[in-house]
Amino acid sequence: MSIPATPPVAQFEGGCVFIDGAYAPLSEAKVSLFDWGFTRSDVTYDVATTWKGSFFRLDAHMDRFFSSLQKMHLAIPYSRAELREILHGCVRAGGLQDGYVAMVCTRGVPPRGARDPRMAQNRFYAYALPYVWIASREKQLAGIDLHISERQRISPASVDPTVKNYHWIDLVQSMFDAYDRGHDTSCVVDAEGNVTEGPGFNVFAVKDGQVFTADRGVLEGISRRTVLELCGKLDIPLHVGPLPVDALRNADEVFLTSSGGGVLPIGKIDGKPLPPFPGPVTTRLYEGYWALHDDPAFNDPVDYGSEG
Ligand SMILES: Cc1ncc(COP(=O)(O)O)c(C=O)c1O
Repeated sequence: MSIPATPPVAQFEGGCVFIDGAYAPLSEAKVSLFDWGFTRSDVTYDVATTWKGSFFRLDAHMDRFFSSLQKMHLAIPYSRAELREILHGCVRAGGLQDGYVAMVCTRGVPPRGARDPRMAQNRFYAYALPYVWIASREKQLAGIDLHISERQRISPASVDPTVKNYHWIDLVQSMFDAYDRGHDTSCVVDAEGNVTEGPGFNVFAVKDGQVFTADRGVLEGISRRTVLELCGKLDIPLHVGPLPVDALRNADEVFLTSSGGGVLPIGKIDGKPLPPFPGPVTTRLYEGYWALHDDPAFNDPVDYGSEG
């Protein structure tokens, strides 16, 4: 399938979707009621970001997306180079500098009455919106209050967490657990009581200058990977293994990682303050994360053309 010519800059001010092989305004964002992506969460996706007009680690996001597609028996009618062009096109047409850029593939709509997923034609969607933060700036400054929910993340034996998925009922319900108790956001555990992840982020603990994060039951976040690499570069001791709830409760520092904000320091665990906030290790990783946004090796500038 071919893709349309490069769209004009800011053709659709404020964001752009790519549906049915064409760029369109956000008002045309829709999926069929009969798409299994909607009725069965039979979908995979990825979210990259642009910062000051440049994609951050786009290759890593595309690698993860293509790997997820393969694991899900899904396919898109575009090559990697075409996918890149579409994502750039969405940002360009949406007139965005700091963007949230999603690529989505659903199972699609099988012929009426058919129950065999192989009979469905997979559907590809992409869109670019203004950058989305996991928490508002005010919350970040005040110190995000993280609730450790007793709710379990869907088992990795059922749904492969390394495939970025829409199985979010556990995560969304854990957010209500947090709100009901007066906290800002939440993370969930696994069957053994280890901390896994939260709605849109991985979780890290720092104890005695050493960094700990879960090795299982989590999406291998691209921001998580960036932090793991930074620990190596900055000589910060790192442990990737089971992360017991008590390790989080007794940590000196806790932070989240997400494309929606990079390294996000946590101010309180279940209402209990974590002084100092933000802690020294978190601060080094936060600064390292944002410094990489000026490193050409991690960036893919959007072509805004002569109009940009
Ligand atoms: C469940 C879950 N875990 C972790 C993450 C963090 O991944 P990344 O750093 O690639 O944004 C996300 C991102 O949306 C997520 O949805």
